[in-house]
Amino acid sequence: MTTMKTAQMADNSAKTVGDLVAEDYRAAAVFEKYGIDFCCGGQSPLAVTCQEKGLDPAAIQQEIEAVKSEPLGRAQNYAAWELSFLADYIVNTHHSYLNENTGQIAAYARKIAEVHGAHHPEVVAITTIFDKIAADLTAHLQEEEEVLFPTIKRIDAAKQAGNVPAGKDRETIQSSLEKLHLEHEAIGDAVHRIRHLSNDYAIPEGVCNTFVVTYQKLKEFEDDLHKHVHLENNILFPKAAQN
Ligand SMILES: [Fe+2]
Ligand SMILES: [Fe+2]
Repeated sequence: MTTMKTAQMADNSAKTVGDLVAEDYRAAAVFEKYGIDFCCGGQSPLAVTCQEKGLDPAAIQQEIEAVKSEPLGRAQNYAAWELSFLADYIVNTHHSYLNENTGQIAAYARKIAEVHGAHHPEVVAITTIFDKIAADLTAHLQEEEEVLFPTIKRIDAAKQAGNVPAGKDRETIQSSLEKLHLEHEAIGDAVHRIRHLSNDYAIPEGVCNTFVVTYQKLKEFEDDLHKHVHLENNILFPKAAQN
């Protein structure tokens, strides 16, 4: 039975992990389950990623097919959204999350570094890395909100009106995308270093509530960032580059 299913299923193992998630966001849940990075490290073909992790690509694809057989609401089908709408969604959901939480997490991290730093030197290192992420993100979000996203919207509006987008706007997209991609990689690496230092956000014995909340918030921050960078790297940016 299983063999028959595998034989009938199209082999998508040459597609990248990021493309598979862009095709259907529900694939992300399967990749998350197996610790497969679908945002910053999403450029590898599924076959290569599975080989590195000792996983069977056919079994992973079967799990993806299973989650995809659930009905999909248009609300989750980001790839079908207009680019201007997707850009607004990213700002209203993920940039808002960062604006509301980054400063608070940084303050919590500084507090636990002061109180627990002697026994848990990793929290001192985590605080330094997080402060750098917070500073880098401020400039990154500003570039997206003030330069890239308005340019994407102008190009979108020009195309909808049947006009040719301005050449200057196309140049802006190319230069901005390259820079923002590199920043995603650097921020993603820094977040992974925090995950590693915190031993996957495992809470040590005998620490205060602020410590617990900080680790929970750091995990939430990473989860939100993965979704955010996925929408930009795998859907918004490639579509904007095609304009
Ligand atoms: Fe963003
Ligand atoms: Fe970004």
